[in-house]
Parts: sequence; C-alpha cells; structure tokens
Amino acid sequence: MYFLIAFTVTIVLLLGLWIFVPILYGVPWRPTAKRRIRKALQLADLKQDEIIYDLGAGDGRVLILAAREFGARGVGIEIGPVQIVLTRLMALLNGVSSQVRVRRGDFRQADLREADVVFAYLTSDHAPRLQKQLETQLRDGARVVTISFDFPGWQPEAFNRNDLIFLYRMPPVEGDLTSFLDTQE
Ligand SMILES: C[S@@+](CC[C@H](N)C(=O)[O-])C[C@H]1O[C@@H](n2cnc3c(N)ncnc32)[C@H](O)[C@@H]1O
Repeated sequence: MYFLIAFTVTIVLLLGLWIFVPILYGVPWRPTAKRRIRKALQLADLKQDEIIYDLGAGDGRVLILAAREFGARGVGIEIGPVQIVLTRLMALLNGVSSQVRVRRGDFRQADLREADVVFAYLTSDHAPRLQKQLETQLRDGARVVTISFDFPGWQPEAFNRNDLIFLYRMPPVEGDLTSFLDTQE
C-alpha cells in the first residue's frame, strides 16, 4: 500500500516538473517532428563538427538528430529537470552522448558565442529579447533557424513555407518575410 502511494506521488511529481516548469518559463514542451527538424538542419546547412545550440532542448531530439545524421556537436539549454534527464538518457541510448551536452538553465541567460547554428522552437513573444542576445553574441556567419516564429525587422535568408521554418544568418539583414518573398519574384 505504502509502495503504491509513494509510486503515485513520484509519478505526479515528475509529471508536474515535466509539464509545469516549462510553462512557468513561458514555453511548454512541444516536440518538433523529426522530419521538420531534418528540413530545418538542411536549410541551415549544418555541417560535420559544427556546434548547434538548441534553446529549450526538450527530449534532445534536435541534438540527437544533428549528431547522428549531420555529425554535428550539440548543446542544449533546458530549464525542465525531467527533460534534461531524458535528453541525457536518449543521447546515451542513441550512442551520441559524446556529441551531445545539455545544460540546465534559462536560455535567456545562456552564452551562445560558440554556436555555429542556433535552433529555436519558441514563441513570437520571445523574439525581441532573443534578437538582442543573438546580435550581441553570435559571430558573423552563424545561422539561426526558427520553427513557427520569425524575428520582427529581420529578413530571413531562406524560408520553408510548408513547414514554417525561417533561416537567418548573422549579421541580420533588415527587412521581414514580405521583403524576402519580394526578392524571390
Ligand atoms: C517547444 S519545446 C521545443 C523542444 C525541442 N527544441 C524540439 O524542438 O523538439 C520548448 C522547450 O523549451 C524549454 N524551455 C522553456 N522555457 C525555457 C527557458 N527559458 N530556458 C530553457 N529552456 C526553456 C521547455 O522545457 C521545452 O522543453
């Protein structure tokens, strides 16, 4: 009986951490489909040994796919403790734990300077603050690939309309999606 109670309490606690910690920080856990991740990394032209940062690593799927299929090295910044454990476990099970690191913390405080590519599946509410962080920290030529949200005032270098993927290269070009689409006509 005590075992059953302890088990139920543990599960409820883990579920609480899993669901509510990310929500407290403004972005619930919502995994990107692997097919969409693959397209995003192809759009970013991720190369072997490049370093990719995932802002909010979730279950680590972006970093694991980047390591397995592109030979890249990944760093995840993740606030959810359960997601961190899961990322490490999944990296181990996929045989890429030497290529995948995950740090507990808020991506808004993270040092992104070593990134060649930054992957972000967040919300447009995060865009303005993140833009400042990317502009001050990323080196020229670094790429930023976003899922489902774009950066106001920045013209994407490429755009996948079907999957709503935006690619930017630092330093950003002034404009927006409309100005990008105008260049395509
Ligand atoms: C929409 S999910 C994306 C997960 C993963 N990148 C993917 O594409 O499958 C957002 C992730 O960001 C994490 N997160 C939310 N706010 C965060 C913050 N301020 N700092 C770090 N991670 C955060 C959540 O825990 C969640 O795992």
